[in-house]
Amino acid sequence: MKNFLDINKVSKSSLKSIIEDANAMKKGRAEFLNGAPDRQGFMENFIVGLLFEKPSTRTRVSFDVGIRQMGGKSMILSSHDLQLQNGESLSDTAKILSLYLDMLVIRTSDESKLLELASNATVPVINGLTNQSHPCQVMADIMTFEELKGDIKQKKVAWVGDANNVCTSYVQAAVQFDFTLIIGSPFQFAPDQDLLDWAKKLGASVKVVSDPNEAVENADLVVTDTHLSMHNSDLDVNSKLKILRSFQVNQELMNKAKQDAIFMHCLPAHRDVEVSGDVIDGPQSVILGEASNRLHVQKAIMKWCIRESG
Ligand code: CP
Ligand code: NVA
Repeated sequence: MKNFLDINKVSKSSLKSIIEDANAMKKGRAEFLNGAPDRQGFMENFIVGLLFEKPSTRTRVSFDVGIRQMGGKSMILSSHDLQLQNGESLSDTAKILSLYLDMLVIRTSDESKLLELASNATVPVINGLTNQSHPCQVMADIMTFEELKGDIKQKKVAWVGDANNVCTSYVQAAVQFDFTLIIGSPFQFAPDQDLLDWAKKLGASVKVVSDPNEAVENADLVVTDTHLSMHNSDLDVNSKLKILRSFQVNQELMNKAKQDAIFMHCLPAHRDVEVSGDVIDGPQSVILGEASNRLHVQKAIMKWCIRESG
């Protein structure tokens, strides 16, 4: 069974072919209404469960719409409405849902839950975000970057702010897509040393600096995300926001990147917290392109899972 669990768990050639296929599928329906089916229904007779243990706007709607465009059916399952709520194990849930459904997408808390689901399911499983990573988002970001700027290989990407789950997927992507990643974050919210050591061992160009100005210098892409992720506890909220205040992406910071640099944010965003309103709503921002490409790249990911599962 082929799962899409993380960017470091899929081969470089598969990741590239997924993005190529996403571009082709996007082009193939350029003039279609969102509700119109694709010319080829790759998911005819497929029914997919979209299991959410956390809120979502983009992930749930883009997967749902993508499945329908490919001729499949989907079912959004909130963990509150399942017996998971009453303590049923994820392993039993995975075995049971595999009897009724042909694929599962899950957004959950700890990565161990994703792995428990995947190891007990007998259908492909896709990671729709965990506390540790968000691979579908970063695949959409790479697709968006390459549409606008060409091959991301050897380009300079600056991540500024909290080195969170999305940042981890960026580190994994730097290894797989061969771009330089400079992470500008305070030491309290820097990436895990194990992740950095892993990336270094594989020859990736990934560096952490504590000065956001140094991080964005000469960057082709500047990325940030919320300073408070869904899994951050109430306890550390105020001190975390305070520490990250000087890591806001504003126009002054953007001016230190390349003149034609673009700005990304996976959303949801908090204007004038992690990013100033003029940057996120300004000409360098490509946030709508990223959100739009979630749909196309996830369709290609699902198609890849189906094809590879034979
Ligand atoms: N970027 C992203 O995953 O958004 P949602 O939380 O709305 O799905
Ligand atoms: N880092 C954010 C991403 C949301 C899509 C979170 O985990 O809340």
